[in-house]
Amino acid sequence: MKNIIANDVTIAYDRLGKGSPLVLIHGFPLDHTSWNEVAPLLEDKFDVILPDLRGFGQSTNVESIYSISDMAHDIASLLDNLGIEKTALAGHSMGGYVALAFAKKYPNRVSALGLVSSQAPADAPEGKERRYKTAAEVFEKGVAVVADAMTPKLSADARVQTFARKAILGQSKSGVIGALKAMAEREDSTPILSAFSFPLVLIHGDADSLIPIERAKEIKTAVQSAQFVELKGAGHMPMMEFPKETAQGLKLLSN
Ligand code: MLT
Repeated sequence: MKNIIANDVTIAYDRLGKGSPLVLIHGFPLDHTSWNEVAPLLEDKFDVILPDLRGFGQSTNVESIYSISDMAHDIASLLDNLGIEKTALAGHSMGGYVALAFAKKYPNRVSALGLVSSQAPADAPEGKERRYKTAAEVFEKGVAVVADAMTPKLSADARVQTFARKAILGQSKSGVIGALKAMAEREDSTPILSAFSFPLVLIHGDADSLIPIERAKEIKTAVQSAQFVELKGAGHMPMMEFPKETAQGLKLLSN
């Protein structure tokens, strides 16, 4: 992986392919390797940029409190460093929250936006409380708490579960806690949806038990021009459960 320093944080990223830029932002609590099966299917069409968000993978841990918007700023700094002014970007779940925050902060830098298994609203009060409770448990017992709770909900596919469990156990406590707090405090992105002037692609599995497909349908209702790729039988990890179909959906971001 390569590195850049953005906002005093080292952001590690991979890059492959040729074409128009496409940033793929991973979900919680994973890293860029969650795109490993999809990225090679996109390299004929895109310059694919795969960052590790701060606190994950090979990017730096940040001990202070930070926001989803700070993570979006890291992506902007990465793009500045690469000399890319405008790009398509797609985020998986928490990566979608970052992509939405990016679109809010830098609407003129977005050529198209993809949301994979993600959603627009902020956490309800009880969800927010749950995040802080989980953060306290991770602080006390380590990231295995999250690996145990999340792995079975990510996918019914044993191969995907094995990958995800190992990936989660490889993350740091402070990265997991930082992201939990950032997600708990994130803004509701619903109000910005109708102002989007770029194409929006929604990719969602109908068997997603972490973020139900209804959340994507709500976005489709708010943005009627959005293209909706519904993956029958996919859980929360379509990029691993249905890589070909997910790549096809992401290719819509180049039109
Ligand atoms: C993710 O996969 O990134 C998380 O499930 C998102 C969340 O917890 O809201």
